[in-house]
Amino acid sequence: MLDWMGADSEHWADYYAVTVDRPAWRTVRLAIDRFREEDEASAARLRGDSGSVAPRYAVDLGCGAGRDTRELLRAGWRVLAVDREPAARTALEEAVEADLRAGLQIHIEDLATVAIPPCDMVNASLCLPFLAPEAFYPTWRRIVGALEPGARFAAMLFGDHDESASDPEMTCLSPDRTEAHLADFQIEHWSVEEDDRPTALGDPHHFHLVEFVARKRA
Ligand SMILES: C[S@@+](CC[C@H](N)C(=O)[O-])C[C@H]1O[C@@H](n2cnc3c(N)ncnc32)[C@H](O)[C@@H]1O
Repeated sequence: MLDWMGADSEHWADYYAVTVDRPAWRTVRLAIDRFREEDEASAARLRGDSGSVAPRYAVDLGCGAGRDTRELLRAGWRVLAVDREPAARTALEEAVEADLRAGLQIHIEDLATVAIPPCDMVNASLCLPFLAPEAFYPTWRRIVGALEPGARFAAMLFGDHDESASDPEMTCLSPDRTEAHLADFQIEHWSVEEDDRPTALGDPHHFHLVEFVARKRA
């Protein structure tokens, strides 16, 4: 098998075993920091009131073994983690700290059809490009529709120079096209990197990574 192409359940189970203890991606960490700053500012405004700030709610699409999900839980968020692979549920349930389990819901569903509830953030690390175009664009629209003004979309995508871009079952947009699809958002973090390096499972791969954190405009 050539890196991602034809990735099957066995491939993803191996991927979870390798990545389960890896740190969360910087996109999700940056987004958490932005919300924390905003919540601290509003807590300062509310000081003296009896009101307390409700936990934030994130949907982590293509959660895998949950490196980002667990970072969100540790930051006090409630999380709906979604992945198509039952092995993702097993890996995540085994890895999540016992005192954080109450904040976690896991749905084993396809990103192409999963209902995305209204939430403070949709996080999608290295998963949306695995959708073919006919599923990618409707899923993107469902993500945008789930986010109210002030909510965030954090993602890592493969760009059009990525080796995966030749796979017709995947969608690897150019950075310009990704940016154009974020017209409803203020982009707070943006990074494009292109290099040759091994995948998590050690296969050589030409990577073109596009990552962003974006805040929905009013
Ligand atoms: C490269 S892994 C990334 C996992 C995790 N976000 C991370 O960064 O460690 C891609 C994940 O997307 C999931 N995935 C790919 N296509 C999917 C689909 N159509 N529906 C749901 N999950 C999907 C895979 O099962 C896998 O867990």
